Amino acid sequence: MPDQCPWQMLLHPVFHGERYPARRVLKDVDVVLVGRLAEREVLGGLLARAADGYSSTLVLHGEAGSGKTALLDDTLAAAAAAGMQAARLTGVEPETQLGYAGLHRFLLPFAGHVERLPVPQRDALRSTFGLVAGPPTDRFLVALGVLTLLADVASPAPLVCVVDGVQWLDPESAVVLGFVARRLYAERVALLFAVREPAGQLSVLAGVPELAIGGLDEDAATELLADGQ
Ligand SMILES: Nc1ncnc2c1ncn2[C@@H]1O[C@H](COP(=O)(O)OP(=O)(O)OP(=O)(O)O)[C@@H](O)[C@H]1O
Ligand SMILES: [Mg+2]
Repeated sequence: MPDQCPWQMLLHPVFHGERYPARRVLKDVDVVLVGRLAEREVLGGLLARAADGYSSTLVLHGEAGSGKTALLDDTLAAAAAAGMQAARLTGVEPETQLGYAGLHRFLLPFAGHVERLPVPQRDALRSTFGLVAGPPTDRFLVALGVLTLLADVASPAPLVCVVDGVQWLDPESAVVLGFVARRLYAERVALLFAVREPAGQLSVLAGVPELAIGGLDEDAATELLADGQ
């Protein structure tokens, strides 16, 4: 294995050019994926890019039940197996009308990093989350602050961020995360989204590469049906 990239020793088998198993049980996460070889190859490639020091983003979109969350779980499991850092946010309907509620949940594990931000960005985040009194939030500074914060978190080790259920995110958080996605370049961050179709929220993710999650191929669908019997 190459010494310069120890992450690759542990990541998806696809990184090693091994035959990719059609089905495997992942430890720690209750996911048993059938098929989806092409999609897993794409997602595995994004993890490899993060391990190599680059950033990448992707929006998975598809109908309810098409397997978006299952693929994200699979990707997070591969990232965890490689010792990569991970953050997960799932949009929930009760918070759709609460501005910045999603971002608040997303950043909670990284609260300590807020203090390390450049002062204008730090203050924008502090006032957005009600930690200090201040003028109305400057949304641009909030978005810049999140971008800077993720780069800071990822500086010691690659970071995979999963934002699932974008259709239920409050619009303010979705706009900020779309802004961040369009600006990531070489921070070793993989930022992945999943949105259900019809995807009203997809416009806030304009410019972010997309991957349609359609039906399973025939072999995988047959295997899944057989499993269910
Ligand atoms: N490739 C697969 N192999 C095995 N099970 C799968 C696969 N894809 C999806 N499933 C199962 O089908 C169900 C629905 O999948 P999932 O929750 O990932 O859909 P989704 O696209 O996230 O839907 P929603 O838009 O409602 O969030 C889950 O129980 C999931 O584990
Ligand atoms: Mg889902």
